[in-house]
Amino acid sequence: MSAAELDRIEALLPNWLEEKRRKCQYGKVASYIPELSKSPAEALGIHITDAQGRSVAGGDSRLPFTLQSISKVFTLILALMDNGEEVVFDKVGMEPTGDNFNSMLKLELVQPGIPFNPLINAGAIAISSLIAGSSTTEKSARVLDFLRLLAGNPSLHYDMDIYRSESDTANLNRSMAYFLKDNGVLKGRVEDVLDVYFRHCSVQVTCADLAQMALVLAHDGNNPITGESLIPRRYVQIAKTFMVTCGMYNASGEFAIQVGLPAKSGVSGGILTMVPGKYGIGVVGPALGRKGNSIAGVALLEALSQELDWSLF
Ligand code: DON
Repeated sequence: MSAAELDRIEALLPNWLEEKRRKCQYGKVASYIPELSKSPAEALGIHITDAQGRSVAGGDSRLPFTLQSISKVFTLILALMDNGEEVVFDKVGMEPTGDNFNSMLKLELVQPGIPFNPLINAGAIAISSLIAGSSTTEKSARVLDFLRLLAGNPSLHYDMDIYRSESDTANLNRSMAYFLKDNGVLKGRVEDVLDVYFRHCSVQVTCADLAQMALVLAHDGNNPITGESLIPRRYVQIAKTFMVTCGMYNASGEFAIQVGLPAKSGVSGGILTMVPGKYGIGVVGPALGRKGNSIAGVALLEALSQELDWSLF
């Protein structure tokens, strides 16, 4: 891996961070989870890690934030590891929706009434019900342990204020989950499934954690630094494909054209992305654009990808 490229990124970052941070004023911090509205609207940070463990970081890269929808990539992978493809794709589809991440429109319009994909809320709730474990506590603990393993950070934990704030106000997710239960998509008690879901959304990370998790995906499920094999290659392939087709919700097409990398965003303003075979990347910028992705974070990734010719397409 070229250390020269990382040096070049390090040299370019300060100007780009300053320039792209100005975009924050055109975005809005998510407030439908009340506690999220306390996030700093002007923040923008990035951390990039390579296979030798070298890193470049800049801006507000140490800002803690919650995984939110980024966690859906990893619950999908864990559900695949627990159940295999056949069981998982009996309960969720493989197609983008073109609708908002919290829409339940298509659940009633299309047969079979399973969520279109595992990265929209309905699909991720269905995936939460497929995590193995004899109790809700055990299921959540398995997800958290898996995230800690991938991030190489045993101290990852829930942000309990965000967890409670979401759990107390999640009327739409609740209605979606009861609808899924009625359709025979969810296993177990609806409130238990939702608890697993709210907990994995509320895991607190920094950009460095996201970069390390992404580095494993960028290397087909292996940690290139320790040599450990953490995820079967096939499941990484499935996860990365969903990241390209649906990871940035209904801005995924535009992101594929402008950045050209597999990515997953969250309403906290986080983006996990990677340059396959090379880098894991974590970005945070809580001000979101119209389609729910970090407005400055996406602009920063566009600049990086275009300058360094990272697009896969
Ligand atoms: O279920 C929710 O609404 C949140 N816990 C996660 C949504 C999210 O991050 C969508 N992302 N862009």
